Amino acid sequence: MKKNVVVIEGDGIGPEVIKQAIKVLNSIEEKFSHNFLYKKMIAGSKAIEMFGDPMPKETIDSCLKSDAVLFGSIGNSKYDHYPRGMRPEDGLLKLRKKMGLYCNIRPIITYSEIINKSPIKKERLENVNFLIFRELTGGIYFGKKGRSQNKEEAYDYCIYSKKEIEKIGKIAFQAALSRKKKISLVDKANVLETSRLWREVIKEMSLNYPNVDLEFLYIDNAAMQIIMNPKKFDIILTDNMFGDILSDEASVITSSLGLLPSASIGVNNKSLFEPVHGSYPQAEGKNIANPLGCILSVSMMLEYFGMCKEKILLEEAVKSSIEKKICTPDIIDSSLVTTEEVGNYIEKYIKNR
Ligand code: IPM
Ligand code: MN
Repeated sequence: MKKNVVVIEGDGIGPEVIKQAIKVLNSIEEKFSHNFLYKKMIAGSKAIEMFGDPMPKETIDSCLKSDAVLFGSIGNSKYDHYPRGMRPEDGLLKLRKKMGLYCNIRPIITYSEIINKSPIKKERLENVNFLIFRELTGGIYFGKKGRSQNKEEAYDYCIYSKKEIEKIGKIAFQAALSRKKKISLVDKANVLETSRLWREVIKEMSLNYPNVDLEFLYIDNAAMQIIMNPKKFDIILTDNMFGDILSDEASVITSSLGLLPSASIGVNNKSLFEPVHGSYPQAEGKNIANPLGCILSVSMMLEYFGMCKEKILLEEAVKSSIEKKICTPDIIDSSLVTTEEVGNYIEKYIKNR
């Protein structure tokens, strides 16, 4: 198969983890005789420096024409004082919006070999496997924002429409059918009107999916349950803000944020794959960043392309690297294994199968 992939390295450790992900993707390409064409585009700090815009139009246009976008990370505190719309993070939000990426999927899976690294009791963590479905182009992230004239009052509107909720709801229900058939809708319906709308819409949709068990959880309670009893979850469906918070929290279960991948699915089959971790500037250039979040995002991309054998082999390789403890120090204390070495191991594993 021939696929056009736009690659955006972004800031901080982005270029380092992307390098490993491309290496791995190349080994899949060779093994299965695919043709992956990469187009590198600029976004984030580099784009601010070069074009005065964290997400230039050329980058967005290329992404819109691609079969998929592979994204590293974005964020640089140097630009924290820049006005709204001009910070690196704003670039990512703009791209999500322009590509219509309304559904962000973040798998939370534990690996028994590295469970010890999590601060949570081991017996709670064996065989955890759930997906967070985070709405990505609406809610408080994209509502009207502003300040009063004297700047002493600020507001961020949280708005959702029935249509927006139905779009992500449909993907979540469909995914539930091929899993344990359970959806936990996470909201704050005891306080927020948008949450009440989410409940109404999802409840109505659930009538078409009689085999799917639907439960409602308030965000504060869900935040506790994720730590106390993570095994109980199959699919968590939630809005943009709650999904952002819960996914960082859930990373504690897997032992490291560096392990978490994500897929964002949008209108007209647009898609973007990115690790959940940020730009982690403290690790930049040190060859210690965990590339697995980015490599597993590639695996989600392969699945999206319908390349199932490829995905299975890649995940087998990742599992093997963890079993053999070829891991960066975020998952194995004082490990001397580098970012590059993790990528090399996985590349070699794929080549030799
Ligand atoms: C994420 C990130 C982004 C978000 C930031 C960088 C804007 O934290 O993808 O989880 O809040 O969505
Ligand atoms: Mn986040």
